[in-house]
Amino acid sequence: CGIIGYAGGQPALDVVLAGLRRLEYRGYDSAGVAVLADGGLAAAKKAGKLANLEKELADRPLPTGPTAIGHTRWATHGAPTDANAHPHLDNAGRVAVVHNGIIENFAALRAELAERGHELTSQTDTEVVAHLLAESFSACGDLGEAMRQVCRLMAGAFTLVAVSVDDPEVVVGARRNSPLVVGLGDGENFLASDVAAFIEHTRDALELGQDQVVELRRDAVTVTDFDGVAAEVRAYHVDWDVSAAEKSGYDYFMLKEIAEQPKAVADTLLGRIGADGALTLDEVRLPAAELREIDKVVMVACGTAYHAGLIAKYAIEHWTRTPCETELASEFRYRDPILDSRTLVIAVSQSGETMDTLMALRHAREQGAKVLAICNTNGSTIPRESDAVLYTHAGPEVAVASTKAFLTQLVACYLVALYLGQVRGTKWGDEVIAAIRELSAISTQVEEVLTTMEPVRELARSLADKETVLFLGRHVGYPVALEGALKLKELAYMHAEGFAAGELKHGPIALIEEDVPVVVVVPSPRGRSVLHDKIVSNIQEIRARGARTIVIAERGDTAVLPYADHLIEVPRTPVLLQPLVATVPLQVFACELATARGNEVDQPRNLAKSVTVE
Ligand code: G6P
Repeated sequence: CGIIGYAGGQPALDVVLAGLRRLEYRGYDSAGVAVLADGGLAAAKKAGKLANLEKELADRPLPTGPTAIGHTRWATHGAPTDANAHPHLDNAGRVAVVHNGIIENFAALRAELAERGHELTSQTDTEVVAHLLAESFSACGDLGEAMRQVCRLMAGAFTLVAVSVDDPEVVVGARRNSPLVVGLGDGENFLASDVAAFIEHTRDALELGQDQVVELRRDAVTVTDFDGVAAEVRAYHVDWDVSAAEKSGYDYFMLKEIAEQPKAVADTLLGRIGADGALTLDEVRLPAAELREIDKVVMVACGTAYHAGLIAKYAIEHWTRTPCETELASEFRYRDPILDSRTLVIAVSQSGETMDTLMALRHAREQGAKVLAICNTNGSTIPRESDAVLYTHAGPEVAVASTKAFLTQLVACYLVALYLGQVRGTKWGDEVIAAIRELSAISTQVEEVLTTMEPVRELARSLADKETVLFLGRHVGYPVALEGALKLKELAYMHAEGFAAGELKHGPIALIEEDVPVVVVVPSPRGRSVLHDKIVSNIQEIRARGARTIVIAERGDTAVLPYADHLIEVPRTPVLLQPLVATVPLQVFACELATARGNEVDQPRNLAKSVTVE
């Protein structure tokens, strides 16, 4: 969910609505606002996208005032209806609350409130907070103190932002687990899930820590822990501006973010490869002696970031000869994995807020493992709680389906693999030196791919009425196939599956029938050519059974030509780096196919970009 609060001299409702527009990628099942004006509290909320709320406000305007809060929801408990949308108010309508997360003991708290005579009208946990806050406030007369008292009662993960008619100049926020940042303006201050919400007003921010309560006034910000003890907070300056958070002429954020990939990849590499070809990752702050002790690497992540982790496994094992596993964070956390101080856990996350990944890293640290985060969001929870961090510097990614973040996660994974190899002295030979050289040129090759995408778009449009698309790959091409299928599921809502090409004969080949499109990611014929030969046989097998083959192959690979109904050529790269160029056509393919089917590219149904619940 996305949350915003504002206290200042501008019409608060306008500021909050503009902020919600930038936060909508976090959830778009419903939206709502509350504003303090003319001595009262006015609220509006609506199921569906923010546009529905905006229409409602155009038909029935709310009064304007200097203090407001807003929310855009990704439904967890309770259907995305008007009633379940946030904000929630107490019975007297004096307190309004918006919330991200889950309050685990809400049923018990609700029963206690009912016993004390409160009438609760919805089934949501958030309404319970509104009632508790109103009760505490009427006893202590201080909204900050009321919030602290309520936070001490609650179990679970929550970020809350609230206002009260009886303390009209204050917005109060509380944070446990889910993100909340403060934006520091001139005579105005902001609270939001993400800096994007206030980036057009200020780039100066404060990062709130776990279990903190913030009281925000137009000219003051105070932060305490849940017991009221003044807390330390880190101030930082956001290194991108409002133009990075806008579509800049593209129809969708996803198209803009695909196009930004050459620059994003170059930015991830910036300053990290020395003139002598050696890597400097000083900011990672894991001493070389500790890295030499590592005897196992475990990559944990979710969604697209998990696919980056799968590719990293090939690179880490090949270049460092250190055993590496890659696991879905949600599975890793609950299966009692074997970890100790010689395990390096690498948590990959664009947002730095994914709850499954956060829980996995906490578990890893409890077991004594070292955790390195690969992350795109400065100051987010995952890097804060890790021993070390490598930022990807891709700039804000707004489209729900991840593109530039994925490519930069890959680059960061390669850097970590090569760095481990450098520090540990394993395999630090010509191959690794060549890989670093090629990695530093990769941005040009990504650029080159982007200039040849028209036939891919044409192909995608021609497949808009298909029901199924299958994806095959071997070696690092296998995770690329998984990512191609995920993109198509997310955006086109089609049945799409990725398989290891070698597994074809063990089951999936039964799915092949006349004219089923199958995308095959073909490894370079150079280097490990045995892989290449095997996949060429796989293509022949499926073609013999009627599949329509869409082949992604290295330029000049003539061996695949006779079996490719459609050929997508990508530039030559070392085998391990091929995902950086082979994924791009699959992103373009999914985006175009979704558009041809009339789907919303940036906000696919049922999804959210940043999933802050387990
Ligand atoms: C969500 C998004 C995916 C993303 C995944 C992990 O499910 O819809 O696109 O890959 O979360 O996100 P993270 O921020 O941890 O990389």
